[in-house]
Amino acid sequence: MANVTVIGAQWGDEGKGKVVDWLASRADLVVRFQGGHNAGHTLVVGNQTYKLSLLPSGLVRGKLGIIGNGVVVDPEALLAEIDRLRAQGLTITPDTLRIAENAVLILPVHGAIDRAREAARGDRKIGTTGRGIGPAYEDKVARRAIRVCDLAEPETLSDKLDELLLHHNTLLAGLGAPIFDKQTLLDQLLALAPQILPYAEAVWERLDEARRAGKRILFEGAQAVMLDVDHGTYPYVTSSNTVAATAASGSGAGPASVGFVLGIAKAYCTRVGSGPFPTELHDDTGRLLGERGREFGTVTGRPRRCGWFDAALVRQAVKVGGINGIAMTKIDVLDGLPELNICTGYRIKGEIFHRLPAGMQSQAAAEPIYETLPGWSGTTRGARSWGQLPAEAIKYIRRIEELVEAPVTLLSNGPDRDETILMKDPFEG
Ligand code: GDP
Ligand code: IMO
Ligand code: MG
Repeated sequence: MANVTVIGAQWGDEGKGKVVDWLASRADLVVRFQGGHNAGHTLVVGNQTYKLSLLPSGLVRGKLGIIGNGVVVDPEALLAEIDRLRAQGLTITPDTLRIAENAVLILPVHGAIDRAREAARGDRKIGTTGRGIGPAYEDKVARRAIRVCDLAEPETLSDKLDELLLHHNTLLAGLGAPIFDKQTLLDQLLALAPQILPYAEAVWERLDEARRAGKRILFEGAQAVMLDVDHGTYPYVTSSNTVAATAASGSGAGPASVGFVLGIAKAYCTRVGSGPFPTELHDDTGRLLGERGREFGTVTGRPRRCGWFDAALVRQAVKVGGINGIAMTKIDVLDGLPELNICTGYRIKGEIFHRLPAGMQSQAAAEPIYETLPGWSGTTRGARSWGQLPAEAIKYIRRIEELVEAPVTLLSNGPDRDETILMKDPFEG
């Protein structure tokens, strides 16, 4: 039995949802282990398009979906997403979805703090999704968070809200933003409780049972290694660890459960929000990638910044993320480009680097060093096997494999579920 953990190898939106949906046919359970509804995963299945934020992408395949303890759960957003997907014909019940009883809740006050702080940062804003992700994780580490299990204990809720609001209302008042009323929040949570609690359980126990029964688990990462709170382009990151190791701590499964780590990387590179992006293109090629790749944020609708493939960055993600194989997506977006650049390292204040240094000034000053490869005149779209790809596309992928020091084991050449070429089944280890 081998499990698979899918993580992003760039700055998010690499197509993790599409790949997880495709792989889910081979899995028994699909588990989210970090992030929250800042994630936006688009799945195209024939003439249906599903947009998921908090729900594990395996639900679309009818697989058991699990939201692990490492996820921050906005109960209202969750219920709205369940309603939206039910309206598209999916079955989502406590038989198909389980939520860790020890997962942290995102409350309306977290979104308010997130947005007020971003406004106060002005030009230095992180460009968060404004959904309260950072403040909720801060509360978890500060030991004042309200968790799913607290919804069953009205007194615990009431006491915790006192402590939580003492902290957040002080901050909100300081930022000149409206403060929150305890009784209103308490009433809201008590009204949500009977809708959320039927999904709650000790997820670690179910995962242990699944392991003993030889079931296959697919762990679905959100965001990406370069948005990891430790390993990413800090402080322009999200507030959770996005590397594969988090699959274990964020679900209550042991580290041996992580299995094969599949890193998802676009054939070029995008980023939403602020922060360093050495290979960013501000020219017609950048705009072309954005238009062809339909590069608009699933969650916020913001246009994504676009640039060339950064092999130095993905190599770093391979190392710190524990990536065993790469799923390369959106190769079709490069069809017809006369030349392609791959970044192999950076020039920073006269020095050459083959990794992105941690300092903010160094990251901002990093100038890409490019290797130029010929493009292809044929098309990758429609290819059903490796042998049907244009020779130059194969050369491009082979060069990337060398530079990032990991094999490309899956290729995606279109948004639809079926536009996928498998070279090596990650469940085979
Ligand atoms: P995620 O956050 O990593 O799941 O990625 P998103 O769903 O936010 O963004 C990826 C976008 O690219 C979605 O709109 C997908 O439908 C689309 N997509 C995924 N794979 C491919 C591909 O191989 N080719 C093209 N053209 N689009 C793709
Ligand atoms: P998926 O799972 C791309 C970015 C935000 C911002 C930074 C911090 O779809 O790949 P946050 O709201 O998390 O505090 O914002 O992280 N960000 C993402 N960018 N894809 C995502 O998720 C993202 N989730 C957060 O744009 O720069
Ligand atoms: Mg996304």
